[in-house]
Amino acid sequence: MNILVTGGAGFIGSNLCERLVSLGSTVTAADNLLLGKRAHLAALEGRGDFRFVELDVSGPAGVDALFEQGRFDCVFHLAANSDIARSHADPSTDFGHTLGTTWAVLEATRRHSVKEIVFASTSAIYGEMPGCIREDQGPLLPISHYGAAKLASEAFISSYAANYGIRAWMPRFPNVVGPRSTHGAIYDFVGKLRRTPGRLEVLGDGSQVKPYLHVDDLLDAILLAKARMKAAVNVFNVGGDTRCTVRRMAEIVVEESGLDAAIVFTGGDRGWVGDVPKVDYDTTRIRSLDWAPKRDSEQSVRAAARWMFDQAAA
Ligand SMILES: NC(=O)c1ccc[n+]([C@@H]2O[C@H](COP(=O)([O-])OP(=O)(O)OC[C@H]3O[C@@H](n4cnc5c(N)ncnc54)[C@H](O)[C@@H]3O)[C@@H](O)[C@H]2O)c1
Repeated sequence: MNILVTGGAGFIGSNLCERLVSLGSTVTAADNLLLGKRAHLAALEGRGDFRFVELDVSGPAGVDALFEQGRFDCVFHLAANSDIARSHADPSTDFGHTLGTTWAVLEATRRHSVKEIVFASTSAIYGEMPGCIREDQGPLLPISHYGAAKLASEAFISSYAANYGIRAWMPRFPNVVGPRSTHGAIYDFVGKLRRTPGRLEVLGDGSQVKPYLHVDDLLDAILLAKARMKAAVNVFNVGGDTRCTVRRMAEIVVEESGLDAAIVFTGGDRGWVGDVPKVDYDTTRIRSLDWAPKRDSEQSVRAAARWMFDQAAA
């Protein structure tokens, strides 16, 4: 297939590009390098079945020209602001980079008759809904601008699917970790330990608890769902049945660092405004396809931390 990956120079996007090329697809990665890096795509540069385009995907004219030239069979839309805390100070970040990119991609998808879109959605759309959340529960009341922009994106993807015969897959990701991560708690902890090796400051009281998924397991789930789920709009939670507290994550990162660092908590039940402290959601839908992650949450966190320290040492 001829595939466009928006946000292709980011953490998940670059891993996805490598996977799709290895499966025989021709891939175009589009990214404005807001958070992604060209170096993330080093393994693919120079190949005939891959190209990188530096582009602001929230700009409809540029995206339209890309589609005109690309003649894509399918779009994986990952471009977004992934820094949830940042949009508290500047809500326009998520309006533009998270919802605006979706709008521009959908318009180009319609105009150029692309029939498949896979959208990187998130558990953040559920807000602080209690219990183990199923995909069909509501009302959905996000507490971050990021979650709101992702929910609005899902809504437009659904209406475009109904109006223009586009098939959509909308996996709702948990916290995803692994090689080339550009943000998130593990990334922050590793950076802090480099700056102050004897002390790790952790936002909140450490009791926040969420599922963590390794990027390789996430990609297995998405590609399996794309092959097997055949509804017009396919919404599904992705995650294992394990979770990890922020306290345990900090301990694992310190263990992997080999440092003798004191872990200090700033207090409060969450890391920042918009952070959902307890996340638990039902994954029966994706598991019914015989998918299960190869690593549990703690193993995923440990593998991601080890990769970052190995990179720093190399
Ligand atoms: N990592 C996670 O835990 C997680 C969880 C839930 C959902 N997601 C979603 O998965 C996707 C990938 O996330 P990630 O963790 O790889 O983050 P990331 O920041 O590494 O990747 C997002 C990419 O989008 C690019 N981008 C942002 N705005 C753009 C714009 N206007 N035009 C072009 N490119 C733009 C960034 O430069 C970046 O490379 C995102 O949509 C994110 O919301 C990630």
